[in-house]
Amino acid sequence: MNQLFNNRAEDGYAAAERKAAVYFAELRQQLESQQYAQGLKTDFGQWQKRHISLSSRLSRWLPVKQKPDMWDYHVYMQWLNMTGKMDGYLQRSVAYIYMRDLGRALHTPHTQTRVQEVATSLKKRLLTSTQTRTDHVPEFMSLDGVYRWAQREGVETAMIWVMDKLQQVTAHIPEGMNAEQAQRKLIKIIVGVVLHAVEEMDDAVPQGERSRRLDEAIRLGYSYGLTYPFIDDILDSDLLTAGEKEQYSRLIRRALVTGSVPRLGDWSGSQPDLIRYIHSELREAFEYIKGRQQPHVQSVFFEQAYVFFQAQDVDRTRNLANAEYSNEELYVPVILKSACSRLVARSIIGADEDEGFDQRTFCYGIYNQLADDFADMFDDLERGAVTPYTYYVTYGQKRDDLMNPFELYWAVIHYLIHDVYRSDEATREVILDRAINGLKRAHVRLGAARYGELMDLLTAGMPQLNIIIQRMVRDAEDVDFLDKLLRDQMLIHLRQDREQQVQFESTVRQVRKQINDELPIATREGILPMNELLISAANYSLEGSGKRLRPILAWVMGVQHYGLDAQAVLPLLRSLEYMHTASLIFDDLPSQDNAPSRRGRATLHEVHDSATAELSGLFLIQKSIREQASMTGFPAHTVLQLMDYSAQKAEELCTGQAMDLHSRGQALTLKQLNDICFHKTGAAFEASLVMPAILAQANQQEIQTLQQFAYHAGIAFQIKDDLLDLQGDTVQLGKPVGQDESNNNSTFVSILGEDGARREMWNHYCDALETLREMPKAVPFLKHLLDYIVHRDR
Ligand code: IPE
Ligand code: IPE
Ligand code: MG
Ligand code: MG
Ligand code: MG
Repeated sequence: MNQLFNNRAEDGYAAAERKAAVYFAELRQQLESQQYAQGLKTDFGQWQKRHISLSSRLSRWLPVKQKPDMWDYHVYMQWLNMTGKMDGYLQRSVAYIYMRDLGRALHTPHTQTRVQEVATSLKKRLLTSTQTRTDHVPEFMSLDGVYRWAQREGVETAMIWVMDKLQQVTAHIPEGMNAEQAQRKLIKIIVGVVLHAVEEMDDAVPQGERSRRLDEAIRLGYSYGLTYPFIDDILDSDLLTAGEKEQYSRLIRRALVTGSVPRLGDWSGSQPDLIRYIHSELREAFEYIKGRQQPHVQSVFFEQAYVFFQAQDVDRTRNLANAEYSNEELYVPVILKSACSRLVARSIIGADEDEGFDQRTFCYGIYNQLADDFADMFDDLERGAVTPYTYYVTYGQKRDDLMNPFELYWAVIHYLIHDVYRSDEATREVILDRAINGLKRAHVRLGAARYGELMDLLTAGMPQLNIIIQRMVRDAEDVDFLDKLLRDQMLIHLRQDREQQVQFESTVRQVRKQINDELPIATREGILPMNELLISAANYSLEGSGKRLRPILAWVMGVQHYGLDAQAVLPLLRSLEYMHTASLIFDDLPSQDNAPSRRGRATLHEVHDSATAELSGLFLIQKSIREQASMTGFPAHTVLQLMDYSAQKAEELCTGQAMDLHSRGQALTLKQLNDICFHKTGAAFEASLVMPAILAQANQQEIQTLQQFAYHAGIAFQIKDDLLDLQGDTVQLGKPVGQDESNNNSTFVSILGEDGARREMWNHYCDALETLREMPKAVPFLKHLLDYIVHRDR
């Protein structure tokens, strides 16, 4: 049986290879006849009318109004708008996406209308988002922006699912793999599949059906996108030995041939945890994709996926030290892998294809691939990877039979414009825009000298055409693309986010340690035995696996954000943790939640009795107040203000606990749920943020922003607590699970169900993030605290 499948897959590959060889021969013929160079000169003659103006030539000599720095996304958008360049920019960017990612022909009226519509609506979105956002992240690149979209489309569940998945992927990417690139590729694929799905629907599709299809597209996108970091990148990396790569490739090949991921069996090689994780994710992904496809689509999908994998494998296993590869050996796998990646993406969603889709897509791939390989040439050389470019710069001088990939690139461009897209004007426009843009980017990246050297090497066979091309690179304007901008922005954003997260984790670790050392209450010689008992009981509750979030938060705000003296705020940190621990002691009492364990140990009333627990709780509250009163480094009236505020928050906490206990078994409204959670949990978070602000005498406006942030963050924290009570791990949590159910508590989970609770949590996450933007000075810690809150497992 397997043999039969194997043969079919190999026949499929051989057929694809023959097709690619025919295409390659055609390109080669064009290259040799020099027909392309002649044709492109005429094309550039037309093209330059829209791109080279007197002022663009003058600007070389006179430093007139310069383009703003493109790294600042908002400024750049505004500049485009003010100079009247926005429409052209979006038009070309959208047209390009339609051609590349949707495989459309630009000359059809239908595509032209869609490009226009999308460009118009995009313009509206971009302009409003530049007006409303004060940070430098475009709306659709921040989680809250994306989640808001999901809410509008009714696909929150799928969005939460995929956000969790992405979080796990990121957590699993080992050193030695570029995490941002992996994330970016995955996100790009998901967005691509969602765009496909959007494109397939018109206004007649009812909302429910629309949501269903988008939900599916998100999951399919992830399932398919996984193969990029977890198949291609893994095999490209040095994480596995050659033998392990072989073993891993066999597994993937078998999966593609049979349609299901085989058991992993024993993996005794490197990265066992990673491989086990990947294996289970891929298995789930395969099943999901299969479950969504009609049988006939499924077989096409697996056939194409096999060709894709096999071509990559051939491509990858070549060795730069081998001087003997023929042109066919170099280019045929490149044609295949680049064409199949697009064909597979298309068959993933099983969309209808218009006439000519296959042919266009097949021919188009290599154009894109050569542009990418050109851009990555130096990185690839460093890795010793064989691409048409690395191979040519290594052997081009010695072997005059070797084709020059740069010339071939232009031959492909000519072929696409005239043979595939029938000399369509709009197509010529975007393809040449893109090509010139790629060279401009290389010029900036490499610097004039290196760029010049590279061009000398690559353009020796096309001197006349090259003069024109280099003039365009120097003088042409309006060749920028939105997707490039987004790509750059996304990488910056992902990298920054990761750095901040590392920073967040290290701050938490360090400050927690410091706080842990500060918490124990000292005893003195000669005190009463009962006092001694209360102190040791209080210390017992303070010890254990408490996360110390509240004092950590206060430290970050006080010391980092407001620059208060670290020593001077120590009493505040102790005070917050004493108060919080007291609230837990009460919460666990038989008269309240009746919990047997807390912070990884038996609860205080279990170790002693309820009376001792109650008294220890009260004792801790008094300690907390005395800590506040000891803050002599601050003006007395400020400390009084702080104490008054603190007492109000403690009152709210008591009220919250009473509301919570009295609502058992009742059907609550969303408003009541929010109210209870704010009181019992949010208030303490608010105190941790606002008390340092009071000490720093921050202005009222800022305090209000912090309060609003704490409101949403606190509720999100409590919802996560409710979710963990449902499905967390007792050992991890250090407290029992399933308490809410056994106590018949009315929580977000019991009222809204798991899915509903999760959605509410993310809604508060977004509200909190949006509030955070109003802070006059950014506090990245708080953003990462939110991430931690929703993803934590203890
Ligand atoms: C538990 O708080 C009480 C809730 C507000 C849900 P934490 O989860 O912060 O508990 P510790 O301090 O880490 O033990
Ligand atoms: C407690 O909420 C809120 C407090 C501030 C004490 P829970 O009752 O859900 O907290 P856990 O799950 O026992 O920690
Ligand atoms: Mg409780
Ligand atoms: Mg409880
Ligand atoms: Mg709980």
